[in-house]
Amino acid sequence: MKIFLDTANLEEIRQGVEWGIVDGVTTNPTLIAKEGADFEKRIKEICELVQGPVSAEVISLNWEGMVEEARKLASIDDHVVVKIPMTPDGIKAVKILSAEGIRTNVTLVFSANQALLAAKAGATYVSPFIGRIDDNGNDGIKLLEEIMQIFVNYGFETEVIAASIRHPMHVVEAALIGVDIATVPFEVLKKMFTHPLTDVGIKRFLQDWESYKASKK
Ligand code: E4P
Repeated sequence: MKIFLDTANLEEIRQGVEWGIVDGVTTNPTLIAKEGADFEKRIKEICELVQGPVSAEVISLNWEGMVEEARKLASIDDHVVVKIPMTPDGIKAVKILSAEGIRTNVTLVFSANQALLAAKAGATYVSPFIGRIDDNGNDGIKLLEEIMQIFVNYGFETEVIAASIRHPMHVVEAALIGVDIATVPFEVLKKMFTHPLTDVGIKRFLQDWESYKASKK
């Protein structure tokens, strides 16, 4: 499974890349705004840190505007993948961009039909927002299962990004059903490393080693 960081924070990205387990980054307008950064400059900075896809989202709502923005974003860096919202105009834009060789990530996907349409249009990635689905009283993991099955049934090459991840078990459940990518907030990534028994185990090994050394003096 590939792991993307869902952030526009350079320190978080730098740390994740240093750990050697970050395959890409996803951003969205909320994440960029949170950083108070210039959009295009920040996307370029992220691309310089990450040797993998970096999603940058369009703001336009009509397909003409989306296509124009997408071409501009794609020219920032080879790593850029253009995030397009899941609407009829978005799907039309994806079809055009895909024919031009511009990679797309169809975002705000909340149903299997939306994922199916995005794949048919040639999206490189689809991003089902599983946390927001759970927040709304439905089952985000079940949606991932449906999308994975549909993509297998028809041999779609579109990769599935489990997005809007809230906790480490979301990543485990997505991995168990073979989802291609999980895009995780930095706080979730940190939690994926930890287990209380690991800490207890390290402490005990060190104590035992110190006792052994003291007994040899
Ligand atoms: C994915 O690409 C989105 O940026 C993100 O996962 C949205 O997550 P949220 O529901 O926590 O805002």
